[in-house]
Amino acid sequence: MNKINFLNYFFLTIAILFAISYTKLTGVVALGKQNTHNTAIIHKIAAEMLDSSRLHQTKTFMQHGKISVFAHCVSVAAMSIKIANFLKLNVDKKSLIRGALLHDYFLYDWHDTNNKYHRLHGFTHPSTALKNASQDFELSHKEKDIIVHHMFPLVPIPPKCREAWIVCLADKICALDETLFHR
Ligand SMILES: [Fe+2]
Ligand SMILES: [Fe+2]
Repeated sequence: MNKINFLNYFFLTIAILFAISYTKLTGVVALGKQNTHNTAIIHKIAAEMLDSSRLHQTKTFMQHGKISVFAHCVSVAAMSIKIANFLKLNVDKKSLIRGALLHDYFLYDWHDTNNKYHRLHGFTHPSTALKNASQDFELSHKEKDIIVHHMFPLVPIPPKCREAWIVCLADKICALDETLFHR
């Protein structure tokens, strides 16, 4: 087994274990939900970002099943905080949340396969998201790392900071939950 395959299996196993634990402990519906304090922080930061950007467009594009890209990104932000708290990791919470909210800032309907470019969506959308986010926001190094490396190991360049590793994992957990239970 080569290194990439090993990492693929490693992430998949971790994601499934998290999903099963959450499903058993809190029910599928509660997956990705936060305590009211963290939810309030995420919504405050999202509200600030919605004011002066194209972030509202992500409410009109669907991500998985019936979940919009915006709702998916909010879930990933919530799950990221949950993982950081669970592992008792010291993180830059603002960058963690902003990076999670912008990690899928690609701003198109990726289900439209008439567009040839969209067929490579899985590989190309992190760099498209980074390009769009850089046009609309002043991004920290951590936020850039989160956005451009969130598809690891499919895009085989790993995250550099812990916040980007957390969002990379949270994204997989939320994608799995949305694909399986929110169709
Ligand atoms: Fe993505
Ligand atoms: Fe995502």
